Order: sequence, then structure tokens, then C-alpha cells
Amino acid sequence: MDSEDIYENAGRRDIKNTTGAQTQSHGRDEAKDLKHRGSRCLVLISVGLGLICVLLLVFIILLNITITAERDMIKSYKNTVEEFNQTINSLQHNHTDLTQKNLELETKVKDLTAEKNQLQRDFDSLNKKNLVLETRVNDLTAEKSQLQRDFDSLNQKGPVCFFMSTELKSWSDSRQYCRDRGADLVIINTEEKQKFISSLVSEKVWIGLSDRETEGVMKWVDNSTLKQGFWLKGEPNNANNEDCIEMNFNRGKPGWSPLNSWNDLPCSEKKKGICEK
Ligand code: BGC
Ligand code: CA
Repeated sequence: MDSEDIYENAGRRDIKNTTGAQTQSHGRDEAKDLKHRGSRCLVLISVGLGLICVLLLVFIILLNITITAERDMIKSYKNTVEEFNQTINSLQHNHTDLTQKNLELETKVKDLTAEKNQLQRDFDSLNKKNLVLETRVNDLTAEKSQLQRDFDSLNQKGPVCFFMSTELKSWSDSRQYCRDRGADLVIINTEEKQKFISSLVSEKVWIGLSDRETEGVMKWVDNSTLKQGFWLKGEPNNANNEDCIEMNFNRGKPGWSPLNSWNDLPCSEKKKGICEK
């Protein structure tokens, strides 16, 4: 039984026992009311304090949650920063590698450019040589055709015969000597023929070549121009208005050889001639 009940029972007893002592009873009611109010206050204060405690607890829990979340966040930031640093390091490493590779490639490009330029020069030079060779091939083809024509015409003519005039005469008279006998002064247009005629003679003789028509333009008696000459060293020198050609036989003369034996002389000089029929 709490104090309230005690007061209540006591009050009831007082009412039953004494009707006159109402004043005393009234005082007791006031005290009872006061106590009752005090109890209520206590309850209210307790409830308030309880609520404050609950609120504080909630606040602390929420604070704890927030702090934990922030810690996690900071941890996560730290991790992110660490990863970021690692990425930067790795990128720096890659950048160094790439710079090195770039330098190597630049050197390679330089080398290849130099090589390409050299190849271009070689190509140009080969192209030039090729052009020269093509021209030479064309010349040789033309020469071959000419030789073929000469060969055919010789074949038509029948066997060739060479003979030497018996008298010493000027170039023109020697030519006339040959013509009077159905021949002409010899035309020498191959190495073989040069060697052959050279082997026949044992003195200086006229051959069918001169530049009487135009100084410096050597022509054979058939009017064809000279292609290959078999000159002594330093000849033709036109030393003394020399337009007619002799074959020199002097085997002792310096520079003489079967393929180097021609000299230009004044056409009026008197010597024998080699005729070809
Ligand atoms: C020269 C010849 C020249 C000749 C004339 C020689 O001494 O070497 O070039 O044709 O004299 O006689
Ligand atoms: Ca001469």
C-alpha cells in the first residue's frame, strides 16, 4: 500500500469516526492534494528526464552513425587518393616509356629518310645509265642493220678483191687509177678489214677517206661518213692543209699498231693506193 492509499484510508476512517472534526479533515485533504501534486510533478520530471535520456541516446546513436559514415567516407577518399596516385605514377611511367619510344622512332625515321634519299639518288643514277644504255642499244641496233645491209650488198657483189696501184700518185690520181679498173680506193669500216689491209701493206698508201668537201668531216669514197677511225696518236691534225688519209706502215713509229695507223696528209702527196673491187 502506497502513501496515497494510506492517506485515503486514514481519511475514510476520519469521516466515519468524526463528523465534527471536518476542519481537521479539510487540512488533511490539502496535504493529500499537495502530496498528490508532488507525485505528479515527480512523474512528469521523471518522464521528461526519461524523454531527454531517450533523445540523448537517439542523438548519440545518430552522431555515432554519422561519425562512422564520415570515417568510412574518409577511408574511401583515402583509398581513392591512393589509387589516383598509383594511376598518376603508372601514367608517368608510361609517359617516360612513350617519350623514349618516340625518340627511337624519330631516329629510325631519320635513318629511313636518309636511306630513301640514297635509294632515290641510286634510282636516278640508274635511270640515267639506263637511258645511256638504251641509246647505245639503239645505236648498236642501227649499226647492226647497216652491217647487215653492207653484208647483203657485198654478197650481191660477189667476192671482194683488193689490189695496190703500181705508181706513186696524188690521192685523186690514185683514186682514178682504181676507178679505171672497175674499183675504188678501199673503204675500211671494220676492225677485221683494218687488220687485214694493214697486213697487206709494207709502205704508206692512200685509202678511200678524206675531208676535202668539208674540213673536219671525214667521208669515204661512197659518200658515207666515217664512224670508226684507226688513227695514229695525235691524228688527224691537219698540220699542213691535210685532207687525204694514208695508212702508215711504219711499225717502228711510237704508238703505231695495226689498229692505230692512219694519218692525214696533203692530197697532193704522191704514194700508191689500195683499191677495192
Ligand atoms: C706529222 C703528221 C703530218 C706529217 C706531214 C708528221 O711529222 O706527225 O701529222 O701529217 O708530218 O708530212
Ligand atoms: Ca697529219
